[in-house]
Amino acid sequence: MSEQARAIISEVSGHDLDQWLRPSTFTNELEESVRGHIHEELTSWIFYRKLAADCSRANIALHGFAMLWERSAKECLIDMQWLEKYLISRGGRCKPTNIEAPKCEWPDSPVEPVGPCREAFNVQRKLFVDLEKLCTLAEKCQDTALLNAIESRFLRKHAKHLKNMGDLLQQVTRVSKQPGLGLYLLDAELRHHNGCIPWMSMNDPDTIEEGIRAVTKKISGGLALQSHHEGTKLASKEAGHC
Ligand SMILES: [Fe+2]
Repeated sequence: MSEQARAIISEVSGHDLDQWLRPSTFTNELEESVRGHIHEELTSWIFYRKLAADCSRANIALHGFAMLWERSAKECLIDMQWLEKYLISRGGRCKPTNIEAPKCEWPDSPVEPVGPCREAFNVQRKLFVDLEKLCTLAEKCQDTALLNAIESRFLRKHAKHLKNMGDLLQQVTRVSKQPGLGLYLLDAELRHHNGCIPWMSMNDPDTIEEGIRAVTKKISGGLALQSHHEGTKLASKEAGHC
């Protein structure tokens, strides 16, 4: 082994490589805040699991809602795993903390969805506010990489989730004014959409953009077809004159 290789091995072995990965902008406070959001996602995950389990009970049997909460729980778990990987890739360390057990219980006598849906809205809002705080701190520390990751991977998506949950709370409140068929229909609609919020696309600016693009394409396609049609008519007319 050459002297040069020996020197590199000794240099690398004597250093904390995590620190090499870590720029000065990724401060301890920022790392702690990323871990804080991981904890928040896990707490929300167990909360949604509890709602999904409650809605699946025979006493409640709101399977469309159960599917929605299952989806929400999965989303939290995926976000948590992504952020954990990201934390490690930035030279951070994973330090799990205890997850608080959810206190809510879906009322079953009578079946009452307003309280749990209000709670779900609060959970979603808490996640969104926490992400905003994380972004503000990342901006303050001038950690552009984290700011960009949170904005593109989380913030946009969570803003949509929050609006969807607000709409759900509104609809649940509306149908609960007269208990009975309304809740059954809302649950059936959720079930029909495999637990996805049925009006999700109405709240998505990206879908609206796609819709406008499709309409524009259709209009220009129509115009092209029309001019082609007119061109053919003119050509046959001219051919007739000859
Ligand atoms: Fe999330």
